Amino acid sequence: MGAWVLVAVASRHGATQEIGEAVAQVLRARGNAVDVRDVEDVTDVAGYDAVVVGSAVYTAHWLPAARELVARERDALAARPVWLFSSGLATQPAAAANSPHEIAALGATIGARGHRSFRGRLDRSVLSFTERAIIAGARGRDGDHRDFPAIERWAAEIADVLADERASV
Ligand SMILES: Cc1cc2nc3c(=O)[nH]c(=O)nc-3n(C[C@H](O)[C@H](O)[C@H](O)COP(=O)(O)O)c2cc1C
Repeated sequence: MGAWVLVAVASRHGATQEIGEAVAQVLRARGNAVDVRDVEDVTDVAGYDAVVVGSAVYTAHWLPAARELVARERDALAARPVWLFSSGLATQPAAAANSPHEIAALGATIGARGHRSFRGRLDRSVLSFTERAIIAGARGRDGDHRDFPAIERWAAEIADVLADERASV
C-alpha cells in the first residue's frame, strides 16, 4: 500500500494548481492515494501520511493563504513528512528577491524535507488591472515557462522517499 498524500496549492491563475496536479499524477502512478486541494479548502492535514504545499510567488512572497495554512497546521505538519514548492518567474539573481529567508523560516517551523522553486506561467491577458500595473515594471516574460520534466523528477524523488520510509516501518 502506498501513502495518503495531500497536495495543497495556492494559485491565482492556475499555473501552480497544474504543477500540483503534475506532482499528484506522478505520486499516484507510484501507488499513492493523492488529494489535490486549494490551501483555503484544507481544514485538517491529520488524515494524511505526507503533505506537499505549493504556492505561486507574488511580489516576492508566497500567497497569504499558503503561509496561513502552514501556520494553522504547524503541529500536524511537523509530525509528518512535508515538501514545499514555489512557482514564480524570477530568475537568478532576481530569485534572491523571492524572500528565500521567509520560505526557509516557514520550512524550518515544520521541519520540511525540502523546498523547490519552479518557473511559472505569465499570461497578461488574464491579469487584473492591479496585477498588470505591478508586472508592468518587471521584466517577466509572457508565456508558459513551466518545466514539467523537472517537476516530475522532483515528484519521483518524493515518491522514492515515501516508498523507502514505508518499506522500513
Ligand atoms: C502581479 C504579479 C506579481 C508577480 N510577482 C512575482 C515575484 O515577485 N516573483 C516571481 O518569481 N514571480 C512573480 N510573478 C509571477 C508568478 O508567480 C507566476 O506567473 C506564477 O506562475 C503564477 O502562478 P498562478 O497562475 O498559480 O497564480 C508575479 C506575477 C504577477 C502577475
